[in-house]
Amino acid sequence: MLPNQSEFDMRSIETKEGEIYAPCVSPNRSMPPVSNRTQLTHRPRRLRRTTPLRQMVRENVLTTNDLIYPLFAVPGKGFAQEVKSMPGVYQLSVDKIVEEAKQVYDLGIPSIILFGIPEDKDVDATGAWHDCGIVQKAATAVKEAVPELVVIADTCLCEYTSHGHCGYLEVGDLTGRVLNDPTLELLKKTAVSQVKAGADIIAPSGMMDGFVQAIREGLDEAGFEDTPILSYAAKYASAYYGPFRDAADSTPQFGDRRTYQMDPANVREAIKEIELDIAEGADMLMVKPALAYMDVICRVKEATNLPVAAYNVSGEYAMVKAAALNGWIDEERVVMETLLGFKRAGADLILTYHAKDAARWLKA
Ligand code: PBG
Ligand code: ZN
Repeated sequence: MLPNQSEFDMRSIETKEGEIYAPCVSPNRSMPPVSNRTQLTHRPRRLRRTTPLRQMVRENVLTTNDLIYPLFAVPGKGFAQEVKSMPGVYQLSVDKIVEEAKQVYDLGIPSIILFGIPEDKDVDATGAWHDCGIVQKAATAVKEAVPELVVIADTCLCEYTSHGHCGYLEVGDLTGRVLNDPTLELLKKTAVSQVKAGADIIAPSGMMDGFVQAIREGLDEAGFEDTPILSYAAKYASAYYGPFRDAADSTPQFGDRRTYQMDPANVREAIKEIELDIAEGADMLMVKPALAYMDVICRVKEATNLPVAAYNVSGEYAMVKAAALNGWIDEERVVMETLLGFKRAGADLILTYHAKDAARWLKA
């Protein structure tokens, strides 16, 4: 029981500045009165008293198995260039991607997701679906060097189109209203060629209607009926993708992505999107971004029995890195608390640029 108000007032002390505050324990007493200690039935602090007790009742854990590490493949050899807005993240040529993949695997991280920056961009996104495309080359090389590492291919067109949108535009369109169904054909081709090159999982990220069904059909026709689809099911039109677009060189040249990516105000729409993707044959579902959309992760988890992934996106990473490099936050503790938060919200898998650091911290 708290002391009643008048007792509190009596014990108030006026400081030099004239501020009033009530001390927790009056200056003449080393212990509060017995009556104040025995009247509580519930004392949740009992289970927080020691480390073993806290461990016994811990509800969620983060493990290295939950992590997926994103990598950016670029043409060339021996090339590694740090992304300005993402300290610790690099654009890497295929040989460097392979080195990185080995490191990732040795850290116990089971999977990477590949993005590609092609030599040339055009309106047909040729670099996305060409058998000699950059992601195809990277996938083949990684699977050869580290066969057990699960390679996910991001399947979208924005890194490969000259205008930077995630699909076909009407000739002369300067608004960025992507044509849905013609885009599906390109995505199908892209997915098949990525799997042919060695990708284990296809992750379509363009938010086109029917993209899961189209890709499923394409994969099945090509004999890849065992390749799972991780759908970017609820992907929002977010300012948090800014640094990624530096890394992947995929900023739209005009317009924005709001005619295909979701309105940040909506959550029922996310449920609609995941229901459609499940019906179309998705094997896993993603929510993206993660931090500002924890409620969406939670709602999606409640609505499905499929594994749920959360994408801890580039802007979320950049903010933590900037604060950490300034010495304003404890990077390890903030990152681990954030990743655990995604688990608590319901994420089974976490795509994160912190994956390698997190794996090291989990080992320590
Ligand atoms: C492309 C794609 C984007 C991200 C993943 N795939 C960017 C976008 O939609 O513009 C963002 C990832 C990140 O910010 O870390 N469809
Ligand atoms: Zn895209």
